[in-house]
Amino acid sequence: MSAILDDRDFGTPPSRAAQTVTLEIDGMPVAVPAGTSVMRAAAEAGISVPKLCATDTLEAFGSCRLCVVEIEGRAGTPASCTTPVAEGMKVRTQTGKLKTLRRGVMELYISDHPLDCLTCSANGDCELQDMAGAVGLREVRYGYDGANHLEAKKDESNPYFTFDPSKCIVCSRCVRACDEVQGTLALTVSGRGFESKIAASIDEKFSDSECVSCGACVKACPTATLIEKTVIEIGQPERSVLTTCAYCGVGCTFKAQVRGNEVVRMVPHDDGKANRGHSCVKGRFAWGYATHPDRVVTPLVRERISDPWREATWDEAIGRIASEFRRLQGQYGKNSVGAVTSSRCTNEETFLVQKMVRAVFGNNNVDTCARVCHSPTGYGLKQAFGTSAGTQDFDSVAEADIILVIGANPTDGHPVFASRMKRRLREGAKLIVVDPRRIDLVRTPHIEASHHLQLRPGTNVAVVNAIAHVIVTEGLVDEAFVRERCDLGEFATWAAFVAEARNSPESTEAVTGVPAAELRAAARLYATGGNGAIYYGLGVTEHSQGTTTVMAIANLAMATGNLGRPGVGVNPLRGQNNVQGACDMGSFPHELPGYRHVSGDEVRDVYEEIWGVPISSEPGLRIPNMLDAAVEGTFKGIYIQGEDILQSDPNTHHVQAGLAAMDCVVVHDLFLNETANYAHVFLPGSTFLEKDGTFTNAERRINRVREVIAPRNGLADWEVTQRLAQAMGLDWSYAHPSEIMDEIARTTPTFTGVSYDLLDEVGSVQWPCNEKAPLGTPVMHIDQFVRGKGRFIRTEYVATDERTGPRFPLLLTTGRILSQYNVGAQTRRTANVVWHEQDILEIHPHDAEQRGIDEGDLVTLTSRAGETTLKATLTDRVSPGVVYTTFHHPDTQANVITTDFSDWATNCPEYKVTAVQVARAAHRSEWQEEYSEHAELSRRIIEREPIHGD
Ligand code: SF4
Ligand code: SF4
Ligand code: SF4
Ligand code: FES
Repeated sequence: MSAILDDRDFGTPPSRAAQTVTLEIDGMPVAVPAGTSVMRAAAEAGISVPKLCATDTLEAFGSCRLCVVEIEGRAGTPASCTTPVAEGMKVRTQTGKLKTLRRGVMELYISDHPLDCLTCSANGDCELQDMAGAVGLREVRYGYDGANHLEAKKDESNPYFTFDPSKCIVCSRCVRACDEVQGTLALTVSGRGFESKIAASIDEKFSDSECVSCGACVKACPTATLIEKTVIEIGQPERSVLTTCAYCGVGCTFKAQVRGNEVVRMVPHDDGKANRGHSCVKGRFAWGYATHPDRVVTPLVRERISDPWREATWDEAIGRIASEFRRLQGQYGKNSVGAVTSSRCTNEETFLVQKMVRAVFGNNNVDTCARVCHSPTGYGLKQAFGTSAGTQDFDSVAEADIILVIGANPTDGHPVFASRMKRRLREGAKLIVVDPRRIDLVRTPHIEASHHLQLRPGTNVAVVNAIAHVIVTEGLVDEAFVRERCDLGEFATWAAFVAEARNSPESTEAVTGVPAAELRAAARLYATGGNGAIYYGLGVTEHSQGTTTVMAIANLAMATGNLGRPGVGVNPLRGQNNVQGACDMGSFPHELPGYRHVSGDEVRDVYEEIWGVPISSEPGLRIPNMLDAAVEGTFKGIYIQGEDILQSDPNTHHVQAGLAAMDCVVVHDLFLNETANYAHVFLPGSTFLEKDGTFTNAERRINRVREVIAPRNGLADWEVTQRLAQAMGLDWSYAHPSEIMDEIARTTPTFTGVSYDLLDEVGSVQWPCNEKAPLGTPVMHIDQFVRGKGRFIRTEYVATDERTGPRFPLLLTTGRILSQYNVGAQTRRTANVVWHEQDILEIHPHDAEQRGIDEGDLVTLTSRAGETTLKATLTDRVSPGVVYTTFHHPDTQANVITTDFSDWATNCPEYKVTAVQVARAAHRSEWQEEYSEHAELSRRIIEREPIHGD
């Protein structure tokens, strides 16, 4: 769908008032909600009042005076952007007096503006230029020789946009965007009168300021003062395609603006229901990896993994996989091959991979990276509520009174949602953070958490049980909700359990490290403060008791009646763009699409009839089981789509051993990743800019992905899977991903209403989308839980087997940083590297001093599983006894350190708790030196044999 380049701007935000006011504008009767500005009322009636400082994504400010109007019975010429409508008001927007006034204002602006329109990068996309035309400016009586700002120096320090103060009209739209939309408050108007100017932080360069490069100010700027460097380099875009960001689970909608076949910029779409016109640095700017020279765009094959790669045709590569997989199944049995789906690929692509496994391989050996992130969410929420997904839409946060963030770092991991959350917190909602590390949200401009429960890693269950203990023993349970909505027998069992003295804050304090009084106060606040909304992340799930914590969180929400309406709920902040979709699409070895167990005859009947083949009722192998079986010699071939399991899965050595033991490893990806070192066939993947499909975000929202530029490798990923299935004897004949979605809708009860036509019409829908909810379901479990009665589950705290001791006295926990994404395959190939060139270890000054470690020292991080080296930074963000790092760089590979422990229910690895020792290092670990040599060798191989195809 091609979209208009610019959204229509109504000048001020809409009013949500129920009451309607009728007025007259230029003789036309107009009816709008009370509280609407005169400017917006006029715009809604098709009358454009000239404006510069107003835009409908920001509150009105009233500084430029270009939007003046006359109102019958009122003195003077009020600004229409700051004047609310009133019943019976008569407004005139075009009079001789107003024209003169507006021209005068424009003359002042233009007398201090470089007259270089023809060579300006914003030529054709400049509101100052437009307004000069709109007010009929013909001359500037003051001339151009007076004092001006034309020599002001340009700031080009940000990698993605420039700031040219000589073109600034000091409308403060940028400042307000940074304050209101992004919530970073990095910009100010410094000085007064003629001296006033825009300053980043305390008059610093953008690169040195607090700016997080979200681009909100650039989008808001009406002139070329703040402008994308790509627009300067490439020129103004010619067309625009609506699509969805392929980074995180927020699922922001963008207008991909294109000139020829080149993306010029990604502009967040104001009607995007997940992002409401906002973005973060990744989606907004870090898309250059799509054209990075490292992209492999021709299939590669080799006999042995020690051989150099050789280019092949698609037919040769696919034919080779088909014959190898058939040979392996003939020799080692049907179950000797399997596949891994990708949470970065579309729903349609994922559906096809699991279909290939079930219908072509004839087994259920399919798994997904959600195994290593949110599988406990799927399992835990299904047990408690009956659905494996979060309960709310993102809009819901605007109605929350208490926001409880557990094991998540939204400002880094889910930045656009974090901005929406911060807006609500600035409006007065209260915040409770449960995290071993002092994340930015704990104290950020105009926000301070009421409580930060800085628990010891691995003690989530004990903390959540203790919160429940307070709620139950202090009589804070919402009894009416529990009586009406939940299973009372299970509630009674659970309540008796959490009420036991051993679960009290006082009893658990020694284990959790959270002061009992602080925990009690936080529990009271959550239970009694109004709408309580819980948001959680991988800091909850990636534990040996990940599923238990998810269930404990569900118990809390049910006990306090915080479910089934806006402003409340249990909300997993899912990491990857389509991790929800990958789970929905049947990527797990025990579930067909829609979370239906493979042992269910009725479900298998549905697919057997459509697919025309029998489906195994035996659950297949999970990723770790596939690797175990490979080492044992019974699992021989794997197709891995869009996943670098060597970097993202636990116990790197075991993954290496499993991959090395297989006869046919197929990697389907954008770049030769770490897993590809063990591959026999490499299939080039396509980026989100090059294909059609859908992603499902963390709020169950199905968003369209649309082809913006032609696939560089010639085939979209779904076409590759289809050709492989065909080569293995199936007669698949999908002509377009919409036909795959039609099959999903036909076979999955929660998707029966979904079609590309509907998505094109309404933008996006949240599943369930079916006869009962034809436009989707923003909030779930409104009248009753999907499973009927809500189920309280006893959540006993069991300490992880990963213990500290004399050899490994510290606990390592891991997380993300805003500018990088997961293993960094994409973001490391963009200018985002300027913000995070390497992973760094955070260590408390006390622990550092004991070890003689100074800021910036190279240190060795050692666990029972392995060791790595990285630089240290000293910070009290972490408590003594806890260290923290990110996992974005392959030459650090935090997963070399993590252990084999995993969640009891889902095998999700325990990434968040590893006992370690830290010591100063003289040089990097041996494997890291080997890795560097290997990376250099790979680079040389690639350079000697041209494989980029361009
Ligand atoms: S930089 Fe742009 S948005 Fe900011 S004050 Fe100047 S002209 Fe207005
Ligand atoms: S890019 Fe974002 S964070 Fe930086 S100054 Fe602009 S609005 Fe603020
Ligand atoms: S918040 Fe997530 S989906 Fe939105 S632009 Fe950033 S990375 Fe993309
Ligand atoms: S647009 Fe109303 S004062 Fe600037």
